[in-house]
Parts: sequence; C-alpha cells; structure tokens
Amino acid sequence: MKHFFFILAITLSSAISHAIGNSYISINTDNTSLILHVNTENNLMFMHYGLPIGEAGQYSGYNSYRRVDYGTDPMAYPTRGGRYYNEPAFAAKYEDTDLNTELKYVSHNIVHIQQDVTRTEILLQDPKTQLEIKLIYTAYAKEDVITTHSEITNKGKQEASMDHYASSAMNIKAGKYLLTHFHGAWAGEMQIARELLTHGTKVIDNKMGVRTTHTENPSFLLSLDTETFDENHGEVIAGALAWSGNYKLSFQIDEFERLNILCGINPYAGAYTLKKGQTFITPDMIWTFSAEGAGQASRNLHRWARNYGIYSKGKMSPTLLNSWEGAYFDFTTPVLTAMIDDAAEMGLEMFVLDDGWFGTDFPRNSSKQGLGDWQPNTNKIPEGIEYLANYAHGKGLKFGIWIEPEMVNPKSNLAKKHPEWVVKSAGREATTTRNQWLLDLCNPQVQDFVFSVFDETMKLASNKIDYIKWDCNRHVESFGSAFLKDQGEFYVNYTQGLYNVLKRLREKYPHVIVQSCSSGGGRVDYGALKYFDEVWTSDNTEGLSRIFIQYGTNMIYPACTTGSHVSTVPNHQTNNVTPLKFRFDIAAAGRLGMEMQPKNMTKDEYGFSQRAIASYKKFRDLIEEGDLYRLVSPYDGNHYAIMYVSKDKRRAVVMAYCIKYQGRSKTPLIRLFGLDKNRQYKISELNTDTPSFWGNGKTFSGEWLINQGMNPQLVKIYDSGIWYLEAE
Ligand code: DGJ
Repeated sequence: MKHFFFILAITLSSAISHAIGNSYISINTDNTSLILHVNTENNLMFMHYGLPIGEAGQYSGYNSYRRVDYGTDPMAYPTRGGRYYNEPAFAAKYEDTDLNTELKYVSHNIVHIQQDVTRTEILLQDPKTQLEIKLIYTAYAKEDVITTHSEITNKGKQEASMDHYASSAMNIKAGKYLLTHFHGAWAGEMQIARELLTHGTKVIDNKMGVRTTHTENPSFLLSLDTETFDENHGEVIAGALAWSGNYKLSFQIDEFERLNILCGINPYAGAYTLKKGQTFITPDMIWTFSAEGAGQASRNLHRWARNYGIYSKGKMSPTLLNSWEGAYFDFTTPVLTAMIDDAAEMGLEMFVLDDGWFGTDFPRNSSKQGLGDWQPNTNKIPEGIEYLANYAHGKGLKFGIWIEPEMVNPKSNLAKKHPEWVVKSAGREATTTRNQWLLDLCNPQVQDFVFSVFDETMKLASNKIDYIKWDCNRHVESFGSAFLKDQGEFYVNYTQGLYNVLKRLREKYPHVIVQSCSSGGGRVDYGALKYFDEVWTSDNTEGLSRIFIQYGTNMIYPACTTGSHVSTVPNHQTNNVTPLKFRFDIAAAGRLGMEMQPKNMTKDEYGFSQRAIASYKKFRDLIEEGDLYRLVSPYDGNHYAIMYVSKDKRRAVVMAYCIKYQGRSKTPLIRLFGLDKNRQYKISELNTDTPSFWGNGKTFSGEWLINQGMNPQLVKIYDSGIWYLEAE
C-alpha cells in the first residue's frame, strides 16, 4: 500500500509543466535553494543559489538595472551566440557554419526519485537548429547538495560540432570571492592554493587524459564576502566534478561584479561532433552551500558521498598490509607468507600483493616489462595466487592483489600481438612513460580485454580475491586512437570506455573492494568513486607530507575513501625520518594500512604497531562515518589538529600533531568545535603511556572543550596525540 502511494506520488509529481513566461523553478534542499526564472522571452535565467529566500514569486518585477539592449542577465546555461558574450557553457558550429545557439525554455518536470531526493529536468531548445538541452538538477535535501548536468540531443537536420559542453553553470553575486583549490604533483597531491578572485578568468583544468588529479583536482571551495578562509563562519560554496578525464572549471568575474562559474569536460582537444539524433550526457557537477563556513561545506559533501557518491556507500575497507614498499618486485612465496603471518600477528585484516606477481616471457621484475601479460610468474609464486589467497584466509585475513589493466609495456607479448591497441597519433611513434604505453579504451575490444584482466585475475584464485588495487601509472601523450574515425572524440571516449568497463565489472563483482590508484592520487574524483570504494591518496607515505595531502584531500573527499599507510624510515619518497607514533597517528586519520617489511621492525616497533592498530579499531567507525571538524590548519603555524564526531555527538576522536619546532612554550590550543556543549566527555589519550594532555582521564563539559579547548604539550617536532572522547 505504502509502495502504491509512493508510485502514485512519483506519477503525480512527474507531470510535465510548461511554465508560462515569468515563472520560477525552485530547487530546494533543507537549508539551501537554487532559483531559476523563465522570463517573458522564454529564456531560462539564473536567479539565486544560497540560503532559502522564501516564495520565489517575490522576484516578480525584479530589476537588475542592466540595459535591456546590452548583454543579458545571468542565464542558467549560457550559450555562444545571441546576446551572450562571456565564456559559454555550450557552443557549437552547425553544418551551415552558424556558430550561434540560442536556447528557449520548453518545459520542465520534477520527480521525487527517492525519499529526500528530487530530480528537476528542464528542457530547452534552439528553435532554429532543433538542438535540445535538458538540464538535470538533483537535490539531496538532507545533505544540502545539488548535483547538475546537461543532456544534449541533436534533433536537428545538421550535425553540431560542439566546442563547449559544460555540465553546469553557476552565477553568484557577492562582494568578494575567495577561491580555495587543490594543486600538486606526484607524491605531493592536494596542496592548498588560495586566492581572491579578480576581474578576468581563473581556470583550473587538466589535459592529461588519465591520471588527471595529480596536478589539480576538479574541485574547489569558494568563500563569499571575505578575504579569510573560515572553518566555522560565513557563506561557502563547494563544488566537485564527477569526471575522470580532462576537465575545466572556470571562474569569471564580469563587469557586473558577478562570478560566472562553468564546470565540465575540458573541450581543449578538438570539437566533439554530435550527429543527428545523438545524445551526449555530461558528467555531474556536485554543489553544496554552507552558511556555517568551510567545515560544514566539507561535511555536506562527505555525507552526500557516503550516502550516494561512493560505490561502497561509505563502508571503509579493512586495515591492511601492502607488499609494495616492503618488498617491491623482490619476493617469492615465503616472503609473502611471512608478511601475511606478520599482518595477522599485528592485528591487520587484509594482505595486498602489489606489483610484480605476473609475466612469464617478460617477468615483471621491474617496471621495464611485463605489463599486459597477466599470467602469474610461477618462478616467484610456484604455488599460485589461489594458494596465497587461501593462506591469507586461513590466517583470518582478506586477500587483495594489484593490477594495472589499462597499460602495456612494449616488452610484453600483448604489445607484440596488438600494436593497434596502443594510444598514439597515426603515423607517429608512441611515447613511453614509466616504460609503458596506454591501451586505447575507445576501442570496445580493448574494453573487453581490460574487463578480462580483472575477470581472469579473479579466476586465478577461484574468485577468492577480496580486493583489487587498480593502478594507472601514466598520462596521455601523442593522443590518438586507431579505432576512432574522429580524433576529436578521443579523450571523452577514453573515459567513457573506462566507465563502461567499470560498470560491467561492478555488475559481475558487486562485492569486491576496488581501490582507485593512479601513481597515488592521480584519479581522485567523484566520477571514479561511483565505481571504486577508496583511493590511494598518495605514493608519499611520509607523515609530515601526508598531513598536507590528507588535509587537502579530505576537504572534498571523506576519510573513509582515503587509504593511508604507515611506511618505514627514512621515507622512500622524502628521506624524512619521523617517529613511528607520528606515522601511525596520521595514517589513523584515514583507512589505516601498513606498507613496509614487518621483519625489519624492532620488537618495540612491532609491539607499538599492534597497540596502534588495536586502538584504531576502537574509533575507526568515527573515521568511517563521523563528521570531520578541522580544528587547526597545518598552513597556519606549528600544529595541525582535526576531530571526527559521531552523529549523536556522544563519541569523538581528536588528533593533533606538531609539525614545526618553534620553542618549547608553543603548545597548541585546540577548541573542539564538533562537540555538544551540554554533554560531559571523558578524555583518554591513546597510543602512549606518557600522555601529553594534563586532562587525560578527566571529564570535561562540551562547553569547556569548545570554548576553552585542550592545550596538549605537543611542542617538539613530530609530537602527536590521539584522544578518544566518550560522553558520560
Ligand atoms: C604506483 C602505485 O601508486 C604504488 O602504490 C605501487 O602500486 C606501484 N605503482 C607499483 O608499480
């Protein structure tokens, strides 16, 4: 009966509306509102995104005082042509060489697709070319998130060669726009860059095709009417594009001091031709708005990601030991089984066999050969992969394995058999990066092959593999596909090809945990996370670097997705030496793992690891599904501090680190903003016998902890502390 009413509600509410001129479309979440306006000329205009404004009809008679014969007020999806002269969301050249597109509102409908989720579809059409664009807005009420994309259909008689095809256009009016975005490099991803936008256009983009998030991430936060980034106060818009290929986010302040934001696929590598009858679906842009600072904007995105945006719906992967930094390519069965023994002994829950297990004619004993030939190397593991899986399972551990299915080494049987599968421009040599070529996922045969790499690997252990680490260690160069007729389609089709494969794999293997790794954090985006359960945040596992990398990454992506491992010292990437406790305390702020040879640890280190892993299990549900509060920014001085709080605010974990020595007297002041001021919390410091906070073991009111705060004695470089708080 309940079901019947729900269907009825959907049917009723999905009736198509034809708004008459001068009417409003409101897209609402619990605390935000996005308002569009169908004006008297049937143009779809952008009115508002931010806090609710009440009845949209109050705009009636609204006047921006622009000259009516000069330019236009902000449009919901601006196109090149007509009166519009700023950067367009959409632009195409038609066969008659017309470069104009002018969209008129046709109709819209609103569908309640599930509890608290509403989808608004607005149909626009160019009366001349018959090109149709549907704007799709999905509002997630409880998370205050609105996702949006466009669906472009060529209903006309001419092909449309598209130069721009953005997912989303947003138009904001504020006095100041402070942009926070994320840049970096291999082993230094997601560093913060912050700037006050000025007139002109600021672009964040990537053109590397794959491994697109090392240098910039397709995400940002925008603090409004301020020059200061504030975690707890002020209006902040955050956005992230769900696309694992070339992207472009542009921010243009126009002559009316309005900020025009465009987000979508980067069309830099040539136009994409939309044939007659064809539909092109752009990726989702995920938006949130917070009136309580950047912290709430991140928490909105995290909640949305856990409920809707990540394949695992926020279920964190098990703790693990990965073989890479402990063994690299140099292992045989006894090395691996000893690692499995140690992983079990230390309390870890999974063992992951990384690169180096395959290749027969071209054994993968270095990065120079073997990629593409996914047959196990029986010289290294004569007993086979199933033996290792059984061995791990016998010790109570899950078992995972590494693949890099999109790639091929020139030195491999695959490269000899299928040279036409390699990405390269026709008539030119393919270039290698890390001694490897990229396979052409535009080609359905290659898609089948990449699918089969995963599928056959699963079969090697009779489907007893619990976790796949999917790596991707190069970007696109000299792009081109022997399969495609029009190379303008290359970058888009590659990413769509990848998604086709992942979709098929998820149908067949819904329960295998899959990590997106791309030389570390090269594929960290919400497009990938639709299919992957977690990301390998960075190849840089060194504690100090990780503070900055995780601080940035977790502004947009929740901690349950970010793999975070303890490795040896001196660190293999940075040479830095940090205490084991410091390394554990920072790795515990994500999905904890280890990536070192346990045999090389001292007895004390081994014992400490057991203790830290056990204490992690006490609070990991908070890392998995708690709310993140950033308490002290590592960019502000000597310290870094964060906390995760349970939804009912009864439990919390606080983590703090000294990252610079500036005198023995400089203790941090950590105000625990995430707590409930009316509760009493008992504080216990973990992973130490010499607590750094005088209040260890005592009970404090939430009010005291928020308004006074903790002052632990973390003064020497790499001092760190983890405190577990429980309400009494
Ligand atoms: C790059 C990854 O990021 C590393 O973790 C490791 O898996 C290597 N590739 C293996 O080649």
